[in-house]
Amino acid sequence: MARHRFPDGFVWGVATSAQQIEGGRDAGGRGESIWDRFAATPGKIADGSNPDVACDHYHRWREDVAIMRRLGLGAYRFSIAWPRVLPAGAGTPSAAGLDFYDALVDGLLAAGIEPFPTLYHWDLPQALQDVGGWGERDTARAFADYASLVTRRLGDRVARWTTHNEPWCAATLGHEEGHHAPGHTDPAEALRAAHHLLLSHGWAAAAIQREVPAAEVGIVLIHTPAHPATDGAADADAARWFDGFFNRWYLDPLFRGAYPADAVADRIAAGHLADTEPPFVMDGDMAAIAAPLDFLGVNYYSRVVMKAGPDGRPVAENPAPPGERTDMGWEVYPRGLHESLARIHRDYAPRRIYITENGAAYDDPADAAGRIADGRRIAYLRDHLLAARRAIADGVPLAGYFAWSLMDNFEWGYGYTKRFGLFAVEDETRRRVPKDSAFWYHDLVSANAVDDSSSPTIHGDSHAFDP
Ligand code: FCB
Repeated sequence: MARHRFPDGFVWGVATSAQQIEGGRDAGGRGESIWDRFAATPGKIADGSNPDVACDHYHRWREDVAIMRRLGLGAYRFSIAWPRVLPAGAGTPSAAGLDFYDALVDGLLAAGIEPFPTLYHWDLPQALQDVGGWGERDTARAFADYASLVTRRLGDRVARWTTHNEPWCAATLGHEEGHHAPGHTDPAEALRAAHHLLLSHGWAAAAIQREVPAAEVGIVLIHTPAHPATDGAADADAARWFDGFFNRWYLDPLFRGAYPADAVADRIAAGHLADTEPPFVMDGDMAAIAAPLDFLGVNYYSRVVMKAGPDGRPVAENPAPPGERTDMGWEVYPRGLHESLARIHRDYAPRRIYITENGAAYDDPADAAGRIADGRRIAYLRDHLLAARRAIADGVPLAGYFAWSLMDNFEWGYGYTKRFGLFAVEDETRRRVPKDSAFWYHDLVSANAVDDSSSPTIHGDSHAFDP
């Protein structure tokens, strides 16, 4: 066994998002979100569930902070629910909503945990969707106002802000593929949404720094390497196509101030854009989007293998290549994390990178004694951390790692059927039950090192996380 140490000061955390854990749907006058509306639409959520109560974090956040303190975490990545703070998206803020996050931030700081908030993790106020949502430029303006409001309230205690989580998912899953709220299937609208999400990032970043000049601002992107199924030119082009629309469509505007020309050409060929000068890109937009970032958050789960389909169009290989998979059907491919970090560092050179999400869905039932032996999750996390460690050795300025997720939660269109947590949440009582991975993560954080042993040992007693 070898022990691989991380640099001093490396930040260890966990990540969650508001819509997935908070519940408290109407508490304190919270407004409706597009995910509340989507989940209430029959057929949209696999298990027919909704996020009305979820993990009830809104009422149990003190317990969750206590658990994170026992894990020994240095930071907690959570998201702020826009409709909790501004029930109608704009206008009069909810005092109770702001108070909730104010108390959470204070609670984290008292526990020695840095609050690392994300302003948008997909829960747009329904009132803004009713007037066009991310398809409209006004939503970007509203987001910048919301960012100012929240920074004014919390900016004396929050040093690092993330604007968006995975704008690809919000734009494409929500507006082109229809699997996410608001459930639209309009590729042209998805491109407008992507642009307004990016633009709102730029405007919000400026707004945050106007309120708190010393604040650091970043954005979180999902990064998925695309590999061709064969050595053939057509498959290589399919991989280029995926990378262009999934990865570079966001990285290029943020770091180079332009959409990638090849991916723009793909969209024109598909009839989703009329020409290379989209009407939704106005003077000054690209400069606003490309204002320097203090850090980039990278979410990594898997890779995709691409090929040219029978009609020549790019498709993901199906059935996917052999290999271990999580319950999401995603291939376990730790090397892809090193590849992603090295590529981002080489091609875009962000000042600092955090892995803001990484984790695996596995459903491991508790045994008779109540133990949840999730060795596959431990192996997944361990192997990805070894890949991250190699990236640091190769010069990538990686400053922290956030495991997805603190606890099993509302996994969007999958409802509660996919379990990513280090903790399980009991159905009736909503008690947080540590899995083996929680003990393992605790040991890793306190050692600031990952062991490459094939069978991780589990220390600690099962009461270590009792409130
Ligand atoms: C990411 C999301 C996060 C969670 C994980 C599994 O794309 O940001 O909310 O759903 O996937």
